[in-house]
Amino acid sequence: MTPYENLQCEVSGGIVTITLSRPKALNALNEAMLRELDDLLDELEKDHSVKTIIITGSGTKSFVAGADISEMQPLSVEEGCEWAKLGQSVFSKIEKLPKPVIAAVNGFALGGGCELAMACDIRIASAKAKFAQPEVSLGITPGYGGTQRLPRLVGKGRAKELLFTGEMIDAAEAYRIGLVNKVVEPEQLMTAAITMAEKIINCAPLAVQMCKAAVNKGIETDLDTGIAYEAEVFGRCFATSDQKEGMAAFVQKRKANFTGQ
Ligand code: CAA
Repeated sequence: MTPYENLQCEVSGGIVTITLSRPKALNALNEAMLRELDDLLDELEKDHSVKTIIITGSGTKSFVAGADISEMQPLSVEEGCEWAKLGQSVFSKIEKLPKPVIAAVNGFALGGGCELAMACDIRIASAKAKFAQPEVSLGITPGYGGTQRLPRLVGKGRAKELLFTGEMIDAAEAYRIGLVNKVVEPEQLMTAAITMAEKIINCAPLAVQMCKAAVNKGIETDLDTGIAYEAEVFGRCFATSDQKEGMAAFVQKRKANFTGQ
C-alpha cells in the first residue's frame, strides 16, 4: 500500500485500520492529510481483499482535534468555501464507500474530528473520548458536514444546542444522545472495533454493501422512495452467489462461506 506522511495503514484479515497521525497537532486535519485520506480511500475501494475499514487517531489523547486552525486562519471567502468542499468530499467518500467504515474514537473528536466520526457508519468511543462542534467559538460554522450530519444523528434540538454553544460532551453523554453506538474502556477500544468489523465480515459483503446504500439513500428521501429502493436491492441480492450460499447453508445447518459474489 502507498506510504503516507500523515496516515498509517495496517491490514489484517480483510480489516484495514487507518490511523490519522499528526501527533504534534492532536491529529488535526490539514489539507495534506485530507488529500492523503482521499487517495487512500480510492485505493481501499478498489482492493477486493479489504472488507471493512476502521479509522482512529494516533496516541491516546485525540482522535482528531478538528480541522487545522493555523492553516484555516488566513483563508479568504473563496478559499474558506474550497476548504469546506475538500473535507466534505472526503467525508462523503467515506459515507458512500461500498465498504463499512467504523470510527474508533480514542480521544478528542472536535469540529472536523466529530464530523469525520459522523461520516463513518458506526462509532465506537473510548470512555475518555470527548465530542464537540466548537466552531462558533472560533467565529466560524462547522464546514465538514457538522450542521447536516449532527441533526440527522441526534435530532435537531440537541444538534442545535451543541452547535450553538460549542459545548464539549463526554462519551457517556454522546452515547445517551445517540452520537456513538458504544462506549468501551480505552484499552478495549481497538479490540471492540475489530470485533465489530469481524462480525460484519462474517456476513455477506454485497448484502452489507447494499444495506449501507439503502440506509444512506432512505435517510435522505421519503419512506415510499426508500422502501422502493429497498425492494430493488432486495431483488438484486437474488442474483448473487452469496444469497444462494447463505440460504443453502441455513437449510443444510452449516456455516455459510460467503465469497462476496
Ligand atoms: N488545529 C491546529 N492545531 C491544533 C488543533 C487544531 N484544531 N488542536 C490542537 N492543536 C495543537 C495546539 O495548537 C498545540 O500545538 P503547540 O504544542 O504547537 O502549541 C497542540 O495541538 C496541543 O494542543 P493543546 O496544547 O491546546 O492541548 P490541550 O490539552 O491544552 O487542549 C484541546 C486540547 C482542547 C483539543 C485544544 O487543543 C483545542 O481546543 N483544540 C482546538 C479544537 C477545535 O477548536 N477544533 C475545531 C477546529 S475548527 C473545524 O474543525 C472546522 C471545520 O469543521 C472544518
